[in-house]
Amino acid sequence: MHSTRPLSISVIDELIQEILRINKLQSNFLADAVQTLSKSDIQLFSQYLNYCLDQQLTLGYLAKCYDLIVKDTFTQQLYFKRHGHYKHSSYAEVESLVYRNADYMSMYMYGLAITTFLWPNHAQMKQFFKEMLPKTQSGRYLEIGPGHGFHMMEAMQHSQYDQFLGIDISPTSVLLTQKILSSHYFGQFENYDIKECDFLTWEPSDQYDAVVMGEVLEHVEQPQQFLQKIAALTHGNSHIHVTTCINSPAIDHIYLFKHAQDIANMVKASGLYIKHQLLIPYQSTTLATSEQDKLPINIALILGKVDA
Ligand SMILES: C[S@@+](CC[C@H](N)C(=O)[O-])C[C@H]1O[C@@H](n2cnc3c(N)ncnc32)[C@H](O)[C@@H]1O
Repeated sequence: MHSTRPLSISVIDELIQEILRINKLQSNFLADAVQTLSKSDIQLFSQYLNYCLDQQLTLGYLAKCYDLIVKDTFTQQLYFKRHGHYKHSSYAEVESLVYRNADYMSMYMYGLAITTFLWPNHAQMKQFFKEMLPKTQSGRYLEIGPGHGFHMMEAMQHSQYDQFLGIDISPTSVLLTQKILSSHYFGQFENYDIKECDFLTWEPSDQYDAVVMGEVLEHVEQPQQFLQKIAALTHGNSHIHVTTCINSPAIDHIYLFKHAQDIANMVKASGLYIKHQLLIPYQSTTLATSEQDKLPINIALILGKVDA
């Protein structure tokens, strides 16, 4: 049986109080964030928090997860400002720090899922993902780097694909994705598989009707090879959703995109083209200012495969 806690703002309020207990500086930011939550956001966020509580996590722990991302991002932003590049540039440097560090990776992924409600840029990307997701197409859905599993869960809730596959290099991400999908908290999902492997070395035998890769390109040394592999795995009608970021430091971001045009060039060189794009400037600035001042920009793309 699942928690009987009511789906209401109260569990969200309790989380906010826990965050403010350890980081008072978030006070104004979080007050604004909560104000902008829609009724359906409140419902889903409460449901996610209650799901976490059912996993024996506490709101105090979830607050620490969120705070870890806030503080790590701040530290990495200072480094980036001083040096003009991300702190790490190879997978080897971040493998043991992040992907294979179960405690850190769990906190990072729960924190990241929470930011999809509390950070306006992440909330906008989540909304774009839902809007763009084909609702009636069938076939095979592949997600590269599902991480916390929340987006994959939403794809399973809102689409009609017949088979879902998630591929993630981190054992912790594989576990978290399996947990959310098998919890039956968000639906009775059965037609899925989650594999632990590096997308680049994985040898697929199928083509895919949908490929989703959220926030992975900036985590890899050779992003173009990822896009080329996606092109090889898809056909002209496949739905391809990719997100990444520009000048956006984080502990495990190792590939620096400096301009939106760098990504557009890479997409083109990989045999793909941009159908739709969402560019989100840094808080309260324009895209031009964000680019010029090297402030973080989020980008979400719907791509098509160029006919051979
Ligand atoms: C920042 S998380 C993104 C989670 C989620 N997709 C989102 O958009 O919030 C990046 C995920 O990509 C995974 N990842 C990184 N490199 C990978 C690779 N070479 N192959 C498969 N997964 C990878 C990480 O383990 C992590 O779970």
